[in-house]
Formats: sequence, C-alpha cells, structure tokens
Amino acid sequence: MSEETLSNLLKEDRRFEPPAALAEHANVTAEAYDHAAKDREGFWAEQAQRLTWDTPFEQVLDWSNPPFAKWFVGGRINAAYNCVDRHVEEGRGDKVAIHFVGEPLEPETSGTRSITYAELKDLVSQAANALTDLGVGTGDRVAIYMPMIPEAVVAMLACARIGAPHTVVFGGFSSDALASRLEDCQAKVVVTADGGYRRGAPSALKPAVDEARTKTDVVEKVLVVRRTGQDLGADGWDDAVDVWWHDAVDAASTEHTPEAFDAEHPLYVMYTSGTTGKPKGILHTTGGYLTGAAYTHWAVFDLKADTDVYWCTADIGWVTGHSYIVYGPLANGVTQVLYEGTPDSPERGRWWKIIEEYGVTIFYTAPTAIRSFMKQGREIPDARDLSSLRVLGSVGEPINPEAYVWYREVIGGGNAPVVDTWWQTETGAIMISPLPGVTSGKPGSAMNPIPGVSADVVDENGQSVPDGSGGYLVVTDPWPSMLRTIWGDDERFKETYWSRFAKEGFYFAGDGAKKDEDGDLWVLGRVDDVMNVSGHRLSTTEIESALVSHPKVAEAAVVGAKDADTGQAVCAFVILRDDAGDGGDDIVAELRKHVRKEIGPIATPRQVMVVPELPKTRSGKIMRRLLRDVAENREVGDVTTLADSSVMDLISSGMSTGKDD
Ligand code: WTA
Repeated sequence: MSEETLSNLLKEDRRFEPPAALAEHANVTAEAYDHAAKDREGFWAEQAQRLTWDTPFEQVLDWSNPPFAKWFVGGRINAAYNCVDRHVEEGRGDKVAIHFVGEPLEPETSGTRSITYAELKDLVSQAANALTDLGVGTGDRVAIYMPMIPEAVVAMLACARIGAPHTVVFGGFSSDALASRLEDCQAKVVVTADGGYRRGAPSALKPAVDEARTKTDVVEKVLVVRRTGQDLGADGWDDAVDVWWHDAVDAASTEHTPEAFDAEHPLYVMYTSGTTGKPKGILHTTGGYLTGAAYTHWAVFDLKADTDVYWCTADIGWVTGHSYIVYGPLANGVTQVLYEGTPDSPERGRWWKIIEEYGVTIFYTAPTAIRSFMKQGREIPDARDLSSLRVLGSVGEPINPEAYVWYREVIGGGNAPVVDTWWQTETGAIMISPLPGVTSGKPGSAMNPIPGVSADVVDENGQSVPDGSGGYLVVTDPWPSMLRTIWGDDERFKETYWSRFAKEGFYFAGDGAKKDEDGDLWVLGRVDDVMNVSGHRLSTTEIESALVSHPKVAEAAVVGAKDADTGQAVCAFVILRDDAGDGGDDIVAELRKHVRKEIGPIATPRQVMVVPELPKTRSGKIMRRLLRDVAENREVGDVTTLADSSVMDLISSGMSTGKDD
C-alpha cells in the first residue's frame, strides 16, 4: 500500500459567511444534520412527505440484499402527477412553470413563451395519450433525442405518467451513440425534433435518428416535433414509422388519468460513459429518486417556491437536467427558465440578458461555463443588472477557488452564496454541498454531506483518513435516489461501484477527495487521473486550481506524463484570459514559478503549454486522457466523446513550440 493515498497540497483561507438575511429565513438550519443522523430512515420518510403518494409506503428501506436497495416499499406514486397535476389541484394552475427562451431573437422563430402549470398538465396529458396510441405500454422504453425545448420536458413527464421509462440521449450525440443506446435499452419509440437552434442556425436532429434506425431495428415509431421547419430531405420521412407531434399530440385529449406505480418502478435510464467499455445505463426508480430530487432542490438552493425564479443551464440530456430542470423543480412547483441555445448567441452576454429579463434568483451552472466567462472578462456580465440573484450553484467538476470567487463577486455581486454541489449520474441527487443559510463556504470545497447523506474519505483499506489527508470518496449508507443497477447488467453494477470496499459496504464513487483540517471535503478529481510524481500521489485539481489563481490564466488541465527521473511528471495545458494577450515571453517560467510558490516544488510542472482550447466532453468535463496522449507523444486515442474534434489537432500542433526546458 502506498504511504500516502493522495496528497493534500493546496491551502485556501478565504471564508464566506451565509448572508444574514438568508440565514434568518433559511429552509434548513444547522440542527438538520443531527436530526437526520439520529434516525436516517425516519428523516428520509419525512422528506418523502414532500410528495403526494397514492398509497403510503410500509417500509422506508429494504437493504436486505445489498447493493440492491428498495426504498419506500409498498408505496405507489405517479411522478408526473407530482410534478404537474397536484399543483393545479392546489390552485396554482396559473403559475408559470416554464419560461421558455428560444435561441433566435426573431419572434417568428424564437418560440419564446411562458407555460403555466395548467397548460403543462394539458400538454403532458396529451402526450401521454399520444404515446399510448403509438403502442407504448407500462415498462416499455422510450428514447428522447431533442433540443432544449418545452416538448422535451413534456415528453419526459408523459413517459413518467404512463410508466414508460425514458432514456434521454443528448442531442449533440451522433447517430452511433444514439443507436447503441436504443439497442441497449430496446427503445420502442423515439421522440425527436426536426432540429433545434444552436449558435444562430438550425441544427438537424431527425437525420441522426434515421441513420440510427439503419443500425438497429428496435424502434417502431418516431414522434417528431417541428421546431425549425428545416427540410428533412428526400428520404427524410418514413410514413410507416414517423409521426408529427403536432398531428398526434395536438389532436389528443387533454384528459388523462395518471396511474400510480410501485415506488421501485423504473423511471429512467441515463447512460454515462465509463472510462472504458460501453456506456453504462444507470437505472433510477420512482419514489426514492423523486424524494431525493425534490428534497435536495429545496434544501440546497433554499428554494422559496412562491417567489423564486430558478434557472439551471444544464442540458436535459444529462442527469443535471433530469434532477434539476425536470423532476426536482417541477415536483417543488417552482417557476423556471428553460433556454434552448448556447451562452454566446447571438451575443456573448446572452445568459446575463436572460437573468436580467426574467429576474432569475437561483442560478445553477458548471465550472467550465464560469471559466469561459472569466476568460472573456467581467465587462460582459457587468453590463447587465444581475441583482436578482440570491443563490448560485456549481456542478460537474471541482470548481477552482479562483473561479468560485469570480462567480460569487462578478455574477453574485458579492452577496449570493455559491453552493458547490458534488453528485453523480449514479447518485441521482446532490450529496455533498454547503447549505446556503448554514455553511460558511470555502472556495473550492463542497464542504459536507447534506443532512441525510453519509460520506467519508478512506484509504486503500477502507479506513477513514484523518483530517488533513486525502483518499477515496465513498458513500457509507444507502440513500433514496441511489442508482438501482446498471440496465441489464447487475454484475457490472456490483463490480463497478460496490466491490472496492466490499467488506465495509461502501459505495465507491471513483473520485479522490481530501478532508481539510476542519474535516470539510474537497473533491480532487477522478482517481484515474491522479499523478504519481516521485512517489507522491498528486491530484489534478489542486495544481489546476493553482494555475487558475494566476491572473493571466482562465483555465488549466494537468496530466501526468512518463518521466525517466520522477516516474511521472506534471504537464500543464493552460488557456489564457483574453486580456492577457499571448501572456508575454516569460509566461511559461512565470506559471511554473507560480505553482511552485502556491503548492510547492513537487507540483512544479515540467512543461506548460499555452493552448487556445481544451478537449472536453459534451457535458464540459476536461478529457485528460487525450492530453496524456499528447504529453507522452502518443497517437491520440479515441476521440468519439469529444465535443469538438479539431481541438486535438490544435493542441498537438502547438506542442513543438510550447515546450519549456
Ligand atoms: C464530478 C454530474 C467536484 C465528479 C452531476 C463526479 C464534481 C462526476 C462535482 C459526476 C463537484 C460533479 N466537485 N467534482 N461539485 N460535481 N463532479 O455523472 O468527478 O456527469 O464523479 O454527474 O463529476 O459526473 P456526472
């Protein structure tokens, strides 16, 4: 066993207290931690009361056959009823559920409109009737491959309403990726659109569905929303299979009685790529998942459903869109913004314009977006009135302290707390996060497991590490929104998540983390990315954060490359801020010195390369594997999950000039 599981290098002393006014009326107070810890199951049973059950559950948790959990045993519930109908029944039918903002500004094409809960109920009922007419029954799988338009939300809820598990495939994925997912979950129907607007132009979707259908024959019907009106091509319509949404759904009845399903009825399958092998279909079920999504959305964002205007910028094709656009916010009956397009279309300040126009109060986005705004400079957000914002969230990657502080100051005006929320597709809902009215936040730290969740950092043997040390992040008790299995592969489920610390029954998340001197948690990145330099195990995150704390740097990625002297050496790739120009002649020496000062000699990069872009997955996570190939002068490996394949050419071609000593 290595002496040191993961080094704890970066020191961060800034602290931000919760704003007094927020703390005074906070949904969750400090007692919640103890209250939940004393009787965890009782606590979750209380949270389940946020939902309306058709039949109450008899048992909170059945954990007799780990790792296969059953939550809220015997309970029956309909997720769509909880997200829509009950709000109408309780007199909130006229409340806006979704302010949809189309990317185009022109009224003829934008489609921008506000949809009330009553209207949403009608739409979901019509879509449920239409899906039933297309032959979808309880338990049948439906794939959703759509732009960020209201019909995507409607389609998901319609599936939930009739008990047909959905699998949403991100609209940016290729026909191959779509075909393999259709095949894996045997989807009978696909809901799609002719296209959506991205970067100022219509971007086609339907042709990819047609192409996918040449690779798998599982699909019987394709339901197509007309969004852009673009030409589908001569062979772009198959009367035997394709059905227009405006024919099938608009004509369907708005009357539909939701059926209650078992709490453990499958709600959806969300595919997530592993480091190797085919994507894993993560299965979430109904009662526990919805409880987790609704509770965390209320607690972590301090949601005041009557007055808040909420906006999560994630795509509906990721789990964040599932839990924090569809299920959590709608179960809580909030008013939210749904935006179709890219942040910079038609202008770089589009997001800030939307916040100003709709008076957004809670905003949830990803570090990759924040860093790209840092790169452009603060003049762009400063041109808008963002004073409505009161809570800011971050998810998807560790947020570098500098990006956190920028987010807090520039976007939040120094008043809005930042909640750095750690969770995964597999966990279904936020697990580790500050609470905005309780926690004094530290930039870069996700802080503590939220009330009801227990997590720890352990060494190779599953022993809890002392404060001040690093190791593996584990969840130590089952939680309601946990994944139930990998679709069709129970063995892989056990092997991937539950075998590393099998004796202790811990869920292993695949992330490295440290506990600081106060016992607060810092997620340090995927353990697969950890570098070993002269026997020290270094996290990518800490060195990246040190680089981003330099005033010329907007973004950084570091990898370990083979080194004759030290085993591995740190190689850094950085993107400079726009106002730093080319960084000057000494930029490489300057950055190496900066890391040495911030962290110590052990972490000094052997090489620093200034690059125009970094390779990222379509959800914005940096693909360090490809950078490792570049740093070790290898042929660049599989790039199919890359958002923009030209970036690797750019980076590889810059290698010869960017090298330091
Ligand atoms: C990373 C997204 C640090 C982590 C909801 C995790 C984070 C993976 C954070 C899951 C955070 C997500 N701090 N790392 N706040 N949030 N991650 O499945 O490595 O797309 O395991 O779910 O993202 O990514 P996924």
